[in-house]
Amino acid sequence: MTAAVVLPGPGYEGSYRDYIAELGSEERYPFQMDLPHGDFSALLERLRDFAAGLRVPSGYVRTSTHWLVEGGELIGVSSVRHHLSKALAECGGHIGLGIRPSYRGRGLGKTLLALTLREARKIGLDDVHIHCHKGNEASVRMILANGGVLHSETSAGDAGARVQRYVVPAPGP
Ligand SMILES: CC(C)(COP(=O)(O)OP(=O)(O)OC[C@H]1O[C@@H](n2cnc3c(N)ncnc32)[C@H](O)[C@@H]1OP(=O)(O)O)[C@@H](O)C(=O)NCCC(=O)NCCS
Repeated sequence: MTAAVVLPGPGYEGSYRDYIAELGSEERYPFQMDLPHGDFSALLERLRDFAAGLRVPSGYVRTSTHWLVEGGELIGVSSVRHHLSKALAECGGHIGLGIRPSYRGRGLGKTLLALTLREARKIGLDDVHIHCHKGNEASVRMILANGGVLHSETSAGDAGARVQRYVVPAPGP
């Protein structure tokens, strides 16, 4: 079976709930996974609006969400910000993503990032900025495997955690 990215849709409601339950208290990536999902169709509408640049909350930018699916299951989520605000250029970058815990370590993070870079290209991004915590080895390796080049480092949050900024070329059309 081959994993593919799809736009958020109603067929994955049960799978979405299972995914959130699996994450437990783990921080959710990307940030859209923190949106309320009790009313699933309202969540889908919110994500569609976000991707269209409508009802974007203050401090956020237009953002598209993609779901990685395989065999009818939702197994990963990614987001692409259509441009960088000053704050996102400092810390945040264009892409955020996560793989469902029970599916990690099988190469799916690398696949999801590759597919998300294609989506980034479709909205006109060439050099895609991806930021990650320095100690997040799986994330660093996933970025490097997709051609990422270390650009710079910064500190984030009150604890001053080190964040690495990578630039990854989006594949040609
Ligand atoms: C980061 C994340 C998306 C990676 O997804 P994944 O499917 O587990 O990663 P892959 O199986 O594609 O592996 C990617 C690389 O990391 C390595 N890797 C995987 N799990 C690892 C781990 N626990 N520790 C160290 N390296 C690891 C793999 O060997 C591979 O490197 P290689 O190509 O050099 O062999 C996933 O761990 C995740 O969802 N983490 C929580 C959310 C998060 O941190 N998101 C990133 C925010 S920038």
